[in-house]
Amino acid sequence: MQIAIDGPAGAGKSTIAKRLAGESGYIYVDTGAMYRAMALFLLRQGVSPDDREGIERACSDADITIKYIDGEQNVILNGENVNGLIRTREVSNMASVSSVNGKVRKKLVALQQRLAATEDVVMDGRDIGTVVLPGADVKIFLTASPAVRAKRRYDELTAKGEACDIKAVEKEIIERDERDMTREISPLKQAEDAIVVDTSDMDIDEVVDTIRNLISQLC
Ligand code: DC
Repeated sequence: MQIAIDGPAGAGKSTIAKRLAGESGYIYVDTGAMYRAMALFLLRQGVSPDDREGIERACSDADITIKYIDGEQNVILNGENVNGLIRTREVSNMASVSSVNGKVRKKLVALQQRLAATEDVVMDGRDIGTVVLPGADVKIFLTASPAVRAKRRYDELTAKGEACDIKAVEKEIIERDERDMTREISPLKQAEDAIVVDTSDMDIDEVVDTIRNLISQLC
């Protein structure tokens, strides 16, 4: 069983996917976390987000795997659990920039497809329904207005103690969407057979109910 959830940053993908996976007993695969681990590696190597060749050269040295601890996905970068280090704004922006690179994508898509080959999965990202799991049983395109998504990201960051300005967060989200949607390889787009769910005016329970109903109608 494969459930693919794609959509822009802050649409609620990971919260919803985690809940759906938990209640169905499937594995939750957060593919953004893999791109974030790669971004952390590149930042640690001192590669600048503008240095396309540097990204291309350095990415081969990152070994990224995942491990489930108490049902929670943990990303392992060259043997180190980096789960607590990949949710900063710097890493978010580097992940969006470096995920444009074909070599980075090839490596991580292979890992994602290996996971889905042996487990029932709820997988979220940008290209799951279009590229990673084109034959997924259910494809959801989760979205919300930029203002709502920025407010969610802002609340998340401030709850973690990261000082930020909501307008700056909104600007970064819009820039990230633009980059994710216009890149050449595997851009963020709705798969033809995906169902759009706009979460702007919905709470988490409403979104989960809506998707649960869609799954039971489709499967
Ligand atoms: O879902 P997220 O915000 O954690 O993703 C971080 C970045 O990683 C996102 O801006 C683009 C990239 N990404 C991608 O290119 N493909 C995916 N399947 C998931 C994430």
